[in-house]
Amino acid sequence: MNPIIVQPSLFEDYKFMDIQFPKPQYLGAKYVHGDWIAQHIPENSNTILDAFSGSQSIGFLCKKMGKSVISNDFLLFNSEIGKALIENKNTILTNDDINILFSPNSDNNKYNLMERLFTDLFFIREETRFLDAFRSNINFLENKYKKALAFSVINRAMTRKVTMGHFAHTQALVYASNPERVKRNRSLIRSIKDIFLELVSEYNNAVFDNGTNCVAYNENIFELLPSLYDVDVAYFDPPYCDSHADYQSFYHLLETYTHYWKDKEFINGTKRYSPKKESGFDTKKEIINSFKLLFKLSQNIPYWLISYNDRSYPTIETLMELISPYREVTVERKIYQSGRGGRGSVAGSSEILIICKP
Ligand SMILES: C[S@@+](CC[C@H](N)C(=O)[O-])C[C@H]1O[C@@H](n2cnc3c(N)ncnc32)[C@H](O)[C@@H]1O
Repeated sequence: MNPIIVQPSLFEDYKFMDIQFPKPQYLGAKYVHGDWIAQHIPENSNTILDAFSGSQSIGFLCKKMGKSVISNDFLLFNSEIGKALIENKNTILTNDDINILFSPNSDNNKYNLMERLFTDLFFIREETRFLDAFRSNINFLENKYKKALAFSVINRAMTRKVTMGHFAHTQALVYASNPERVKRNRSLIRSIKDIFLELVSEYNNAVFDNGTNCVAYNENIFELLPSLYDVDVAYFDPPYCDSHADYQSFYHLLETYTHYWKDKEFINGTKRYSPKKESGFDTKKEIINSFKLLFKLSQNIPYWLISYNDRSYPTIETLMELISPYREVTVERKIYQSGRGGRGSVAGSSEILIICKP
């Protein structure tokens, strides 16, 4: 019999190891792969760029490791989480703040977008009115970190409330009236206010100061990279072309709520905003050039880590070719451990980390 080797926790040496990241529900979030990815972050690095930060799970992990984190996502609702949990050192939402947020709508003529767009589509009218009122009151919070926390928690409450945690379908209310579904997920019938109140302490408890300066941006990565200097490691987790790349279709409602768009059209059955922001990583037509530009603009960052999978376009081999003029490349593969049926993997896919060293 093989001896059982107990691995010491990777975070044994870090004093922030007990701080819990509020569990995200975001397509492609690397929350569960954090320990594995962290093993490949050079210990002597100080500043880490999480360039496509999404739910912020990896930036947050780096903050716990004591690194100075630069987090970035081109969607505003994601970068608000970065402001709240990565850039923010000590501001939390108090009961007084929550009372402000739960006050009546401060301007019904200006704040009625959720009611107009999404009533009876994702939420009943009482909920869309609550969301508009809450949105109108975010402006009355004292500073940008309280505002960012308010956005982070209410947006998370909305994904909790809808089936599958995204907005690319129109089944939310259908499922919410199905007793079988409700039995499996009671959030479907809880009020958003109630879910917000449950989540707010999780987010408050995740606010901490790691002794460095961290910052959260809301930029297209191609515009941000030229302005950065002294970054030791770039972590790239771009959308995977061919598998769930279209974040703006999945999470349009959160982006609409956070921007409170005035200059967009709202189209299709889900009332997604249009036009979308330009990603560069959505379509096969543009993705090779986007990777080329990404690597060219990252030349001054010595060490790159790229999360990828083996079902996307371009292939890992093509990516390695694109990287090879700049860096020495190796590929790490995480084999999924699964007790179920001994199959050992999730639907035959594996998690890939491309390691690019000077
Ligand atoms: C695979 S997800 C990242 C997931 C993240 N690592 C996590 O753990 O949650 C890719 C992210 O890239 C963002 N994104 C797409 N195009 C971008 C661009 N051009 N610049 C910056 N962010 C972009 C998307 O909004 C999305 O959140």
